[in-house]
Amino acid sequence: MTENAIPINIEHDSRQDSSVVVEMVHLRKSFENNDVLRDINLVINKGENLVILGKSGTGKSVLIKCIVGLVDCDYGSLAIFGKDISQLSEEELIETRKKIGFLFQSAALYDSMSVRENLQFPLRRQQRSISKEKMNSLIKEALENVGLSKAIDKTPAELSGGMRKRLGLARTLILKPEIMLYDEPTTGLDPITSKEISKLILEVQKKYNTSSVIITHDMECARLTADRVIVIKDGMCEAEGSFDELKNSTDAWIRSFFE
Ligand SMILES: Nc1ncnc2c1ncn2[C@@H]1O[C@H](COP(=O)(O)OP(=O)(O)OP(=O)(O)O)[C@@H](O)[C@H]1O
Ligand SMILES: [Mg+2]
Repeated sequence: MTENAIPINIEHDSRQDSSVVVEMVHLRKSFENNDVLRDINLVINKGENLVILGKSGTGKSVLIKCIVGLVDCDYGSLAIFGKDISQLSEEELIETRKKIGFLFQSAALYDSMSVRENLQFPLRRQQRSISKEKMNSLIKEALENVGLSKAIDKTPAELSGGMRKRLGLARTLILKPEIMLYDEPTTGLDPITSKEISKLILEVQKKYNTSSVIITHDMECARLTADRVIVIKDGMCEAEGSFDELKNSTDAWIRSFFE
């Protein structure tokens, strides 16, 4: 958060509540005169999959970049694991961010490295003194979790789009994040591969009890993964509910996402 961000008094004290992992209150973010996020109020509960819908350019990616610290918000408060991030020291901030995994819109892999090396890289950065045995067993587990064991010695260029997504996911999961942020995890994939990725997101949630935010334009992905759905419009949370509730909303604009 920037220095002039104003901490807001929270009326309901959910910061004492360990079932809330992220809380945004009156969050704002502008880029010059482009007011992207105007007044975002939302919580992410422990263990839930929260799907975010919204038209292109409404600030969904910006919103999750605020959570991971890639974007500083201008105003409002952001608490992660019950702590207002504006109150954290640099060291505490780094420790907090280590618990957050981010699957980018593009998988951002290292094309010149093998699958194994793509997984070694984040591990070494996170745990400088990690033993070779420990690293190998974590890599094996991560690849098994995403069904990529056989590709360990391949390079990303040799993988299909779906496999690259899986590798991107493995690279994030290997750090055992408590919060996972998925930015359009199924975009560019065929319906069958998309479904596999959506199922993988569910498996990750069950196996590690992660709390996840899933930004998607893929309604099948939303249907399969969502415990709760939020729709962003004009920089605010316009609607919130279960997938079925929003699909059957009385508001035609909300329903239009599901058509
Ligand atoms: N670093 C930045 N600098 C300036 N403007 C930015 C920056 N990042 C995002 N924006 C602007 O913020 C707005 C929201 O962008 P964002 O990427 O969050 O949209 P989105 O909802 O994720 O869209 P999509 O569904 O197409 O991915 C856009 O107008 C974009 O141009
Ligand atoms: Mg986006």
